[in-house]
Amino acid sequence: MSSQKQFPHFMLKEIYEQPRAVMDAIASYLSPESQQKALEDVRLSDEQIQQIRKINIVASGASRHAGMVGEFMFERLARVPVEVDFASQYCYRDPITEPGELTILLSQSGTTADTIAAQREAKAKGARTVAICNVKGSPITKESDGNVYTHCGEEVSVAATKSFTAQLIALFALAMHLGSVRRSLTAAETRQNLDDLMALPQKVQQVLETDEQTKVLARQFEEFNSFMFLGRDISYPIALEGALKLKETAYIHAEGFPTGEMKHGPNALVDENLPVVMILTRDRNDPEAAIRHEKSVSLLREVARRGTKVIVLANPDDADVRQAASHIIPVPSVLGLLLPVLEIIPLQLLAYHIAVLRGVNVDHPRNLSKSVITE
Ligand code: BG6
Repeated sequence: MSSQKQFPHFMLKEIYEQPRAVMDAIASYLSPESQQKALEDVRLSDEQIQQIRKINIVASGASRHAGMVGEFMFERLARVPVEVDFASQYCYRDPITEPGELTILLSQSGTTADTIAAQREAKAKGARTVAICNVKGSPITKESDGNVYTHCGEEVSVAATKSFTAQLIALFALAMHLGSVRRSLTAAETRQNLDDLMALPQKVQQVLETDEQTKVLARQFEEFNSFMFLGRDISYPIALEGALKLKETAYIHAEGFPTGEMKHGPNALVDENLPVVMILTRDRNDPEAAIRHEKSVSLLREVARRGTKVIVLANPDDADVRQAASHIIPVPSVLGLLLPVLEIIPLQLLAYHIAVLRGVNVDHPRNLSKSVITE
C-alpha cells in the first residue's frame, strides 16, 4: 500500500487504496473457505436466513448512502424487502419490528452514537442485528448479534472513501449469501455475479486513471457555489454520496436527486450557474438499463440545451452521451449492482481536487469529525 509521502493528503491516499481495498474485500468473501470465515461472524443460521421477512438498514452519512445501494442488492439478490433509515431518525419514529426482522447497522468507525442508539432500539424491539463495520471490537460490533468486517485498513480522512466502497462489497457479499441460502439465486446467476465481482478491482483501477482528467475538470468548476448531482435507480444513492463529498470537503452546497425527479421541481433550478453532474453509466448486459438510459440521455440533451455545464459519468463508448455532453468521465460497464463501486470514484476525486483548489484542509474539514460520538 502506498505510503503517506506519495500523497499530499490522507483522502487522496485512501481514494487510491480502493483497488486494493476492493480486492481484499472480494478475496475475503469469494473463495468458499475464506467466505465461510468472513461471514462466520455474521452468526445467521440458514434457518434464520430463510425466516428473514424484512431488512432494515440503519446508518449515518456516507454509510447510509451505502445502505441505500444495499437496498437494491438485497431486494434483487435475496428477494427481501428493505427499508433504509437515518440512524438519527430511526430512534424517534418508534419503529415497528416484526418477527423475522434483520436490522443491519452500517458504520465505518463503529462508534457513531446515533447508530449505536438505533442498534439498541432495534434490539429492544426484538430485531436480530448485524453490523457491517471497519473496526473490530468497536461498540457497535460488541452489541451486535453478528458482524461483517470491511477490513479496508484505517481510514484517517474525515470523508469516507475506501470504507464506502468496502461497505458496498460487504453488502453485495452478504446479499449473495442470503440469496444462495434462500435459493433466490440460481447457480448460474451466482457464478455470473462472482465472475463480475472478480473483474471489479481492475475496473476500479481503470476508473482511478481518470484522476488527471478530473483534476482538469476541477479547475473549470471550482468557482461554482452550488452543484446538482443526478442518478437513476441504483445510481441515485451515488448522486447523494457525490453531493455529500463536495459538501464535506469543499464546503460547496450540493444536492443529489433521482434523475426522474427533475421534472417534479428541481428542473426550475437549472441554469448556467448551476453545474449538473449526471451519472449515466450502464450495465451493457442489462436490456432494461437501455430504457432507463434513453430517458436520462433525453434529459441530458434538454439540460445541455439551456447552456448548463454538465459533467457526465458514462461508458467510454457511449455515442449518445458523447454527442450531448462536453465533459465526460469514462466509467466501464459492469454488473448493474456493482456500478456504484465505480461511479463514486470520479466523484470522490472531483470533490477532493475542488477542495484542494479552494484551500480547504481536506482531511480535517471544519465542524466535522471522523465519528460523531454524541447524538
Ligand atoms: C460522519 C462522517 O461524522 O459520520 C461521515 O463525517 C460518516 O464521513 C458518518 O459517513 C458516519 O460515520 P460511521 O463511522 O458511522 O460510518
